Amino acid sequence: MSFSKIIATGSYLPSSILTNQDLEKRLDTSDDWITSRTGIKQRHIIGDEEKTSDMAYEAAIKAIKAAKIDANSIDLIIVATTTPDKVFPSTACTLQSKLGIEECPAFDIQAVCSGFIYALSVADKYIKTNSARTVLVVGADAMSTITDYSDRGNAILWGDGAGAVILKASQEPGILSTHIHAQGKYEDLLHVPRKSDEKKDTIDMVGNQVFKIAVNTLDRIVDETLDANNLKKTDIDWLVPHQANIRILEATAKKLSMGMDKVIVTIDRHGNTSAASIPLALDEGIKTNKILPNQLILMEAFGGGFTWGSALIKL
Ligand code: UT7
Repeated sequence: MSFSKIIATGSYLPSSILTNQDLEKRLDTSDDWITSRTGIKQRHIIGDEEKTSDMAYEAAIKAIKAAKIDANSIDLIIVATTTPDKVFPSTACTLQSKLGIEECPAFDIQAVCSGFIYALSVADKYIKTNSARTVLVVGADAMSTITDYSDRGNAILWGDGAGAVILKASQEPGILSTHIHAQGKYEDLLHVPRKSDEKKDTIDMVGNQVFKIAVNTLDRIVDETLDANNLKKTDIDWLVPHQANIRILEATAKKLSMGMDKVIVTIDRHGNTSAASIPLALDEGIKTNKILPNQLILMEAFGGGFTWGSALIKL
């Protein structure tokens, strides 16, 4: 049986930056409050003419170049997004066309902030069952397009961006395990209503309740992942978490008895980019030579649904 191995990464952040100081002018909030409660100082915001597929394209093309492969050798494209360009076609199909790939299966996955982990999990299964050999997985989100900038309870969190990985069938690991979960009963704590139902179609979140459930759930997913692989906390070299709130990242690092110097942190500069946050952080960790070949990396995420999941990988 083959493993699936991440052979290259790429990422993209829009050029426009929204700082805490900018938000202070629009909302009853302060840089101090945002920094101390979330760890965020700024986020990137998609341009007026830009779409999620444009960000996905920029990240994907960098990953394809880094992998030194012909785009047409990709035999599956999965895009994790909550902010597709259109209801249909899928952003993955639009991306396929932009990349000039003649034909291959392409579809989106909607698991909000856990989307990249879900997509990685599906890609891994395709490779392990010999149904694909080279897979492009992208996490791309334009959360600013579904944010109500008069709601200080969550407008301060979100940012836009995209991250991509190329997975290839390999005799060496690779993705060691993935674990995905969902519990739909929590819908009301974090969702985007339909305008026809609630007169708004922007993010609605009971932040403090989501926070508590996220911390407890991520604790459990750490145990589940370590147990499934017969590993100890100290075996993990790097935590590459979904960037939701620095306090959630710190809680997971504490659970792993890990110093924050072993956690890839981008939330200060990116905010919460939903499905893009893990591949953005992974790309940064690799490009800054923090994450090295053969190291063990734990990725985890929690988000709307509720959905949550983890992936243990060896680079
Ligand atoms: O990624 C997907 C999953 N999402 C998450 O994991 C998000 C999890 N939640 C969070 O990150 C945090 O709950 C928030 C950052 C959203 C909020 O932080 P909190 O520490 O949970 O604050 P809170 O909602 O309990 O509010 C505490 C106080 C309230 O004032 P009172 O009632 O104590 O007077 C809020 O009105 O802070 C107030 N507040 C703010 N003040 C200044 C809420 N938002 C703001 C704000 N600026 N932006």
